[in-house]
Amino acid sequence: MSRFDEEIDRFGTHSVKWDMMEDIYGVPASDGLSMWVADMDFRPPACVQSALERMTGHGVYGYFGDDAAYKASIQWWMAERHGWHIRPEWIFSTHGLVNGTGLCIDAFTKPGDGVVLFTPVYHAFARTIKAAGREVVECPLALRDGRYEMDFDAYDSQMTGNERMVILCSPHNPGGRVWSRAELKGVAEFAKRHDLILVSDEIHHDLVMPGHSHIPMPLVDDGIKERLVMMTATTKTFNIAGSHLGNVIIADDDLRARFAARMGALGISPNSFGLFMATAAYSPEGAAWVDELVTYLDGNRRAFDAAVNAIPGLASMPMESTYLAWVDFAGTGMTRDEFTSRVEKDAHIAANHGTTFGTGGETFLRFNFATPRARVIEAGERLAKAFADLQ
Ligand SMILES: Cc1ncc(COP(=O)(O)O)c(C=O)c1O
Repeated sequence: MSRFDEEIDRFGTHSVKWDMMEDIYGVPASDGLSMWVADMDFRPPACVQSALERMTGHGVYGYFGDDAAYKASIQWWMAERHGWHIRPEWIFSTHGLVNGTGLCIDAFTKPGDGVVLFTPVYHAFARTIKAAGREVVECPLALRDGRYEMDFDAYDSQMTGNERMVILCSPHNPGGRVWSRAELKGVAEFAKRHDLILVSDEIHHDLVMPGHSHIPMPLVDDGIKERLVMMTATTKTFNIAGSHLGNVIIADDDLRARFAARMGALGISPNSFGLFMATAAYSPEGAAWVDELVTYLDGNRRAFDAAVNAIPGLASMPMESTYLAWVDFAGTGMTRDEFTSRVEKDAHIAANHGTTFGTGGETFLRFNFATPRARVIEAGERLAKAFADLQ
């Protein structure tokens, strides 16, 4: 029995994943399985909980001062876990990475500029770009042998000169790809060729399946530094998304000054709960917990993929990272309404709709399997029943 097998009731805790499931997906709270938004049904490591308990035990919640230990913990984590050596003054703390994305758009582009996305991709990127009055430029990923690849010749011919920024999701949500060194080099060259700021969102960098290794963008191309913004966080890794804290890391002095100006203009500074939690998480104890977590997630991945891929017409994309399975229903020949209705109304499972991830997502649903294994197995059984006529 693993610590991650414990079934924790999250109803009534203002959990968007569970408490909003019925409102958003029509999946009944009485027996629904919530497999949508990307948070996990697990408690974070004890070191994070203890840090909060020390705070609440003291009971005075004033302004935070002296972030040296906090920044040192980020430095330690990036060096120890990713072989990436950073300096404390490169680090900004935003209210999460959607906020970080919005700040980058604000700092480095102007209204009407194009921002390139490799789609399908994490939906908040397009939402933020559009809300800021910039143009989303979709560069579709190519589906080759059931997994995503990039096609830079096609992307080059799409560029008009109005583009100012490209946002990369590395590893990739929703396709689960851990991009290879050659692919990352390709993105860096693409950014240079078209004079784009490259924002590399590496929030999923710690959740990489055995046999794969993530390469941080700065280790791929030295010359990319002057146009690179890195984004990482404790929130996905340790399941503390409610702390809303993100690391935006910028090595280049000029880019950093422009970003700092926007942070200052908007009065952004992090909340002390997030800082205490992150400092505790980025530690040897946190690292041991992540290793255990990844092994458990890998087991869930195998269980989920085996069940789904046994259903004719369904194909789960081979997962190299994240806990988000990207399942293609194209082989069923069903309309989007039909396969979605079978998942929601027959199987009582809430999964993200592929259309929200942009072009290429139309025939997909995304299932979050960061939940106790028994629920993953139950989900597989429910799907097999809902599509039993195909067997
Ligand atoms: C690629 C990516 N970036 C950012 C986020 C969310 O970031 P935050 O909660 O820090 O705003 C997610 C959440 O799923 C994500 O997948």
